[in-house]
Amino acid sequence: MFNKIIQPQVMYGNFSGYAQAQPAAADEEIARVGPGTPAGEYLRRFWHPVFVTDDLGELPEAIRILGEDLVLFRYGEKRDQIGLVHKHCIHRRASLEYGKCEVNGIRCCYHGWLYAPDGEILETPAEDSKTADLLRKRTRLGAYPVIEYRGLIFTYMGPAELKPDFPVYDACIYEGMTSQTYKAPYRCNWIQILDAILDPTHTTYLHSRNSHPQFSEGMKADGVLKFYERNANHFLGSSTRRVGENVWVRVNELILPNFTQAGSAFAVDGTQPCYFGRSCFTRWVVPVDDENSVVYAWANFGSRWDPHEYNTTEGHEMIEQGEVLDRSPQDKKRFPADSEAVEGMGGISTHKGENLMPTDRGIVMYRRRVRKQIRDLANQIEPPQPVKAGDSLVKTYGQDTVLTMPPRNGADDDAHLDRIGSAVMDLQFAVEGISDNDRDAEIIGRLKALESNGID
Ligand code: FES
Ligand SMILES: [Fe+2]
Repeated sequence: MFNKIIQPQVMYGNFSGYAQAQPAAADEEIARVGPGTPAGEYLRRFWHPVFVTDDLGELPEAIRILGEDLVLFRYGEKRDQIGLVHKHCIHRRASLEYGKCEVNGIRCCYHGWLYAPDGEILETPAEDSKTADLLRKRTRLGAYPVIEYRGLIFTYMGPAELKPDFPVYDACIYEGMTSQTYKAPYRCNWIQILDAILDPTHTTYLHSRNSHPQFSEGMKADGVLKFYERNANHFLGSSTRRVGENVWVRVNELILPNFTQAGSAFAVDGTQPCYFGRSCFTRWVVPVDDENSVVYAWANFGSRWDPHEYNTTEGHEMIEQGEVLDRSPQDKKRFPADSEAVEGMGGISTHKGENLMPTDRGIVMYRRRVRKQIRDLANQIEPPQPVKAGDSLVKTYGQDTVLTMPPRNGADDDAHLDRIGSAVMDLQFAVEGISDNDRDAEIIGRLKALESNGID
């Protein structure tokens, strides 16, 4: 005997899961960062931050950068100098993270070999001098030059003879700005973290409409987008929003390969005037390996940056990605932030599985340029370094500008916003070569003139 048959409900639709089940291949050319890979070689032509100075104590630290295992250590009479060497001792591969920091370098724990910060073998105590001399002439430990700057430790991991000047950005030396270092790990490839900086639209949706808002309330509005390429390696993405009578131009920026800035996270919401307010962070997206990255940054505070009340560990995390890092899985699902958005793509996002849209054109622009520079390097054309315009600083554009410029009766306001956004950037490009000291005042003066004169 059977009960009455109840037909299972049939779902109708054009299901395509089976046809699309094959995973697309990773974009190896720009995703792989290890030694000898195309993108790895490219990235090795630049200075990168690799540690927060205050986190390096009296003991060596093992770190992984660009797929290489390294050891950072202090040396010198006062242990106030810093060295960076390959992790494994060249005698029999003991890890130098267990080494001793000494005046002249780092000593391996296993048989006491002493290495200078540039990798020279200084002592091989158990060996006779003839064998040791032969070895010293023949080889050395791998090592990289280090610069400590404003609380971050930077290194250059490329060919020694091609070491570029260390670039100093205008954003590093403002009077009246308080900066605090922070770091934020991401469990994914560097490119998908970098993408977000030339994707101003995600600020409206991920950070503002989907999750609370995580930043200022005014970011809920859709902006009129514009993208710019300055020089061969400097990309800007501006989002121009209408806030009542005001026009708010927020500018994100990327200097290849991995330097990023934006406007403020919390200080500006478009309701108050703001003339060339500067970036809440100055940050680098540094690949640890193919599927892990770490952001090293300064969070910036003051009257033209974010409020000092956010200068806490939690505040830095919120500035970096909209939420604190240590959250429950449920909280991450209810209020996802950048980590969830970019890590959720997987260790290496498959670009062939994307459908890029007009709002993604900044991403298309910069990825194309990265790919070109990677290919150029394979043909012995070195990539361009950050450009110093004016005196000695690399000039940056990450900002908020809010001008009182009401909508025009009967006119298309998006077209009006588009023209104002262009005018705000064009007046800055016009003074790019001006001296470092005069640039800010000149830009602010021109912005105020634009506000009072309007545009045709
Ligand atoms: S393994 Fe380092 S000295 Fe022997
Ligand atoms: Fe974001």
